[in-house]
Amino acid sequence: MLAARTCFNIPARTKYFRDHTSYTRFLQKLSSAVTSPTNRSYASQPEGGNKAVLVTGCDSGFGFSLAKHLHGKGFTVFAGCLLKDKGDAGVKELDNMKSDRMKTIQLNVVKQEEIDKAVEIIKENLKDPEKGLWGVVNNAGISTFGEVEFTSMDTYKEVAEVNLWGTVRTTKACLPLIRRAKGRVVNISSMMGRMANTARSPYCITKFGVEAFSDCLRYEMHPFGVKVSVVEPGNFIAATSLYSPERIKAIAEKMWNELPESVKNDYGRKYFDEKLAVMNTYCNSGSTDTTPVIDSVTHALTSSTPYTRYHPMDYYWWIRMQIMTHLPAAISDRIYIY
Ligand SMILES: NC(=O)c1ccc[n+]([C@@H]2O[C@H](COP(=O)([O-])OP(=O)(O)OC[C@H]3O[C@@H](n4cnc5c(N)ncnc54)[C@H](OP(=O)(O)O)[C@@H]3O)[C@@H](O)[C@H]2O)c1
Repeated sequence: MLAARTCFNIPARTKYFRDHTSYTRFLQKLSSAVTSPTNRSYASQPEGGNKAVLVTGCDSGFGFSLAKHLHGKGFTVFAGCLLKDKGDAGVKELDNMKSDRMKTIQLNVVKQEEIDKAVEIIKENLKDPEKGLWGVVNNAGISTFGEVEFTSMDTYKEVAEVNLWGTVRTTKACLPLIRRAKGRVVNISSMMGRMANTARSPYCITKFGVEAFSDCLRYEMHPFGVKVSVVEPGNFIAATSLYSPERIKAIAEKMWNELPESVKNDYGRKYFDEKLAVMNTYCNSGSTDTTPVIDSVTHALTSSTPYTRYHPMDYYWWIRMQIMTHLPAAISDRIYIY
């Protein structure tokens, strides 16, 4: 039975060892979690009832699936969509459900005015605004690639605007409602928010930032009864729209054209093309089943004892993350980087 547990079921609460007593308590909890695999299983969690959640980035990928899944669980879903005004296919599908519990909202997390408007729409549509909003899932995100010397400052800022500042902006706007409900904040980070990698600095920086923001917020919200969780998916590229060959080609062309001549000459086109070929292989890589991510978010929203961190990822990435985050860099770098 134990073997049937996937990595993302492994208890992932962050633990601080302040004294011997807390260490002993931690060991007791760990041993009970490991020896009773059904303890805190995702399946037994209560449904959404009449609770309401805002999910950002619902046009595609995890956000789209989440919106449908949470609606199926009985939640009222405010589905923030980047391209609602442009009638994107994902938005149309959610609207075609014709449910008064599924409300798509135009929401670009880079634009404060769209966030403020979304919060107004939420307030107007909550059955009892005094009871607040149960949850916000900060899912909207973009990705890119490229070595530090290949990445323009504009690119760093563009990715941070969505992944990091978009998360901060949306959370701050929702917190008064979430506090009222003693609800949940669920931030979609990434395994790249725990361990860095070459050619991923614009993305890693933002996801490390999301992790830090979530920790600070968790400490601050504890007295209010608001729980903050981070979901750190592994590789699900094949299942979502995060990368496509077209997007990679467009990024690469722009990147090469804007590179300073000295960098072009030092690295050379051959090196650039080889890196590009590696990136292209990622488009079809990873798991095509997003269930572990969807289940993690659902657990974070519905369990009375949500985890601090969820790790929906396959064994390869889970072990790599443990090694990268627990062993001295001199060892882990040798194993995975150099
Ligand atoms: N897929 C993976 O392997 C993986 C792994 C770890 C973490 N993640 C994280 O999971 C989250 C969801 O990504 P995904 O994989 O599901 O990719 P996705 O299919 O591209 O979904 C991202 C969503 O965010 C939307 N979005 C982009 N910019 C936005 C903005 N400024 N405001 C509001 N929405 C915006 C996108 O809209 P458009 O479709 O209209 O552009 C899209 O609907 C992201 O935070 C990502 O970093 C993904």
